[in-house]
Amino acid sequence: MASPASSAPGGVAVVGSGLIGRSWAMLFASAGFKVKLYDIEQRQVTYALDSIRKEMKLLERSGSLKGSLGAEEQLSLISSCSDIREAVEGALHVQECVPENLELKKQLFAQLDGIVGDQVVLSSSSSCLLPTRLFSGLVHVKQCLVAHPVNPPYYVPLVELVPHPETAPATVDRTYALMRKIGQSPVRLMKEVDGFALNRLQYAIISEAWRLVEEGVVSPGDLDLVMSDGLGMRYAFIGPLETMHLNAEGMLSYCDRYSEGMKHVLKTFGPVPEFSGAAAEKVHQAMCVKVPDDPEHLAARREWRDRCLMRLARLKSQLQPQ
Ligand code: NAI
Repeated sequence: MASPASSAPGGVAVVGSGLIGRSWAMLFASAGFKVKLYDIEQRQVTYALDSIRKEMKLLERSGSLKGSLGAEEQLSLISSCSDIREAVEGALHVQECVPENLELKKQLFAQLDGIVGDQVVLSSSSSCLLPTRLFSGLVHVKQCLVAHPVNPPYYVPLVELVPHPETAPATVDRTYALMRKIGQSPVRLMKEVDGFALNRLQYAIISEAWRLVEEGVVSPGDLDLVMSDGLGMRYAFIGPLETMHLNAEGMLSYCDRYSEGMKHVLKTFGPVPEFSGAAAEKVHQAMCVKVPDDPEHLAARREWRDRCLMRLARLKSQLQPQ
């Protein structure tokens, strides 16, 4: 493969300019990459460019703009494109961000497969579609992988890199380097698995949260506090495995002390919840007391969440690991 995308200014195409496409465009521009933003709907790109402009200006005013370039300079790196061939021409990295629909994504990758050369990385933002389903049979399968971001990607840096069994190791390496270059925090999955890593963990938590509420052990509001004022406090800095290591005299000591207790509790976990009926109604009502589910309240709460995440990201960058 040729030089990494990170050494090729002008090398990124973002296909799909919705929520996630806009964030990727901002992240790539923050590191000085030229970005071509393509969408099947021209007015979506126009809207995307407009909202990127507004967001970058706000970020700049609050001192939170990423990268060393000013907002105007970053904005000048992002251009719209109404032709997919033109968008990917000369790109060394294509980040696909179209809706989570297998057939739509397969069609798009088949189209890209027919027009790209053998130097480009074709990367999907898919949250849960497995690479074998997305890329099998493509001529350029070696150059394909999933790079799954976390919403909102501008503030939450994790990106899961998930290869197809035929993805070339160099494709993963290049994408890993590119993600680091744009300030994200990539992790490599060695093989594909449903839900990747993040959603498997998230669903395990959601599932037990639901059971505890459904069984009347704890109220929905208190359940959320267990995470936001409890586990979540440390998980912003260290993961569950390091937590084990630190909560005893090392991992083996933790296993020695707590494995029987953990297994005892784990064996009491119930079946996969239905997430419907009376339990869903109860949780919904409790959530609506806190945040009414009209668009204004939801948007205001999301903005507050994003401001918190932005400040947490800043704090994390100031707190170097010892
Ligand atoms: P979105 O619905 O906000 O944006 C999708 C965009 O793709 C729209 O602008 C649409 O016009 C465009 N589009 C549709 N068909 C197209 C085509 N054939 N060619 C070019 N553009 C096309 O969707 P969103 O939320 O940005 O999601 C995109 C991807 O990112 C999905 O795979 C999703 O699973 C993934 N993702 C989403 C997260 C989220 O929280 N929204 C988090 C992580 C990943």
